[in-house]
Amino acid sequence: MFLDKIFGAKEKQVLSYIGTDVHSHLIPGIDDGAKDYETSLACIAEMQRQGINKIYITPHFQKYRFNNDEDDVVERFEKLKQLVAENNIDVSLNIAGEYLIDDGFKEKINSGKKLLTLKDNYLLVEFSFNQSMFGIEELFFDVQMKGYEVILAHPERYSYLNKNSKLLANLKEQGIYFQSNVLSFGGFYGSEPMRLAYQYVENGWIDFLGTDIHGLRYRDALINTCKNSKFVKMIKKQKFLNNQL
Ligand SMILES: [Fe+2]
Repeated sequence: MFLDKIFGAKEKQVLSYIGTDVHSHLIPGIDDGAKDYETSLACIAEMQRQGINKIYITPHFQKYRFNNDEDDVVERFEKLKQLVAENNIDVSLNIAGEYLIDDGFKEKINSGKKLLTLKDNYLLVEFSFNQSMFGIEELFFDVQMKGYEVILAHPERYSYLNKNSKLLANLKEQGIYFQSNVLSFGGFYGSEPMRLAYQYVENGWIDFLGTDIHGLRYRDALINTCKNSKFVKMIKKQKFLNNQL
């Protein structure tokens, strides 16, 4: 305490305000995320330095691009978990998935297959970046009826929804959770996703933040975003639900 008075109390790490990261791509070889384990460890070590104490690794599940199998993903995850422990990085690692809404997702949901969720039943999903889809509300209703809570990843990044934000308003009404990317607030994806991210926070729409980290370029952008005073002010003020997962 005495030294704190002389040197100033240590600033709380920026990402400790969320504690849990709900979105990341850090298993090498299965999606467009970290290219090797060294990269994964470098990213995880930095996330921990910034205040993250629990990480959900959420590899892509996409029928036509990353047609991953849940059991295979879990096996590879165990190796990463072991490496993190061997390197004495003090962080809790968990596995889930990021499911693209495509034919494969519909097939999996209809088959009753157990999907990789955050906590017990929180399912992270994403839309295509190129085209809007019909019947989203009905599909999500079916998913909810199967016992899942749905988290829509980075709503600020779908440029076509900007013009049709009625869909997002409807989804909020329907009880869909929204997760924004930390890097959106630093302008990593451009000025429009940044503007929308702040606007959606302002609307009270954003329940979770995630890094969506894919590798070293993202890690460097994360370091910069954590120094961005507007972002820091926002994360300190806003109450996100990350620690509930
Ligand atoms: Fe992602």
